[in-house]
Amino acid sequence: MNQKKILVISYSQTGQLTNLVNNFTKPLLENPQIELFYKNIEPVKPYPFPWNLMKFMDTFPESVYLDPCEINEFEDDENDYDLIILSYQVWFLSPSIPITSFLKSDWARKKLKSKPVITLIGCRNMWVMAQEKMKVLLQDIEANLIDNVVLIDKGNSLETFITTPVWMLSGKKEILMFTKAGICPKEIEKSQRFGRALVQALQNDGEKENKSLLYGLNAVKVNIKLFKSEKIGTKSFSIWGGWIRKLGKPGSSKRKPVVMLYLIFLLLIIVTVVPINMIVQTIIRIINKQSIQKQKEFYELPSGNGDERMKEFQ
Ligand SMILES: Cc1cc2nc3c(=O)[nH]c(=O)nc-3n(C[C@H](O)[C@H](O)[C@H](O)COP(=O)(O)O)c2cc1C
Repeated sequence: MNQKKILVISYSQTGQLTNLVNNFTKPLLENPQIELFYKNIEPVKPYPFPWNLMKFMDTFPESVYLDPCEINEFEDDENDYDLIILSYQVWFLSPSIPITSFLKSDWARKKLKSKPVITLIGCRNMWVMAQEKMKVLLQDIEANLIDNVVLIDKGNSLETFITTPVWMLSGKKEILMFTKAGICPKEIEKSQRFGRALVQALQNDGEKENKSLLYGLNAVKVNIKLFKSEKIGTKSFSIWGGWIRKLGKPGSSKRKPVVMLYLIFLLLIIVTVVPINMIVQTIIRIINKQSIQKQKEFYELPSGNGDERMKEFQ
């Protein structure tokens, strides 16, 4: 095969996504005909980790409205990349602000135009609406999404509803008897199968065909119990986020009382409306089985959730 140049974009606060990217790309690194260019996004004003509650909540309006922050622009290079691996985490049902900022930069517009892009998500468990926004961001710069791989936290929804925020706000991954926060390390290691499949695809110039290279490898699994909640959540974030953005820039003192009011509102909704909505949604899912299945399959594109090639690349 011809020498291939692959651009790998990343940003990670805890190092989890970096670890995922390193495992995913390991088989590619081992191939002398593949050159990898790792680039880390650096916000000019770094986001804190662990977060304090105020800063954490104050980040939601800009996340949801895809408002970029200032990032250090990558240096110009002469490389004409064959493939882009774009890793990202989800913030408030949207791509995180650093990755959004990168996608809105001139550098990305120039380098990703007409290029095949594989998105690699590492998040708690709610990523469907974020990926819909990602599709628009990629379309805006005329990049071609050919695959999407998603790894989510190990604990169930109830556990991670507690463990993820505690991890973000304290840095601690282990709390009481709950499953440790974050993606299971074994799953991260197993993501090397995608790298192996990519090596084979690149050997056949597969990246030029504008179609999925990572199908049949259990790349994504949409949880039908979650995407309706994501839609409702996105609506609520948009309404409140719109009001808060009008009050001032992130960190401004005028925003603080409203941000805290929203947090209280959100917690009240979660303990009152969410359980009732869960029952209603269960009934709706039974009635609308076919339409829900169709939506699930749509959100799982382009890689799909088949597993027919697992044995070959495991
Ligand atoms: C501000 C913020 C908002 C988050 N919102 C979501 C979310 O809506 N859905 C989700 O699945 N995970 C969410 N997460 C978890 C992240 O996607 C991710 O798993 C975690 O931040 C670790 O990523 P890292 O590689 O940057 O350390 C959020 C994290 C932060 C910091």
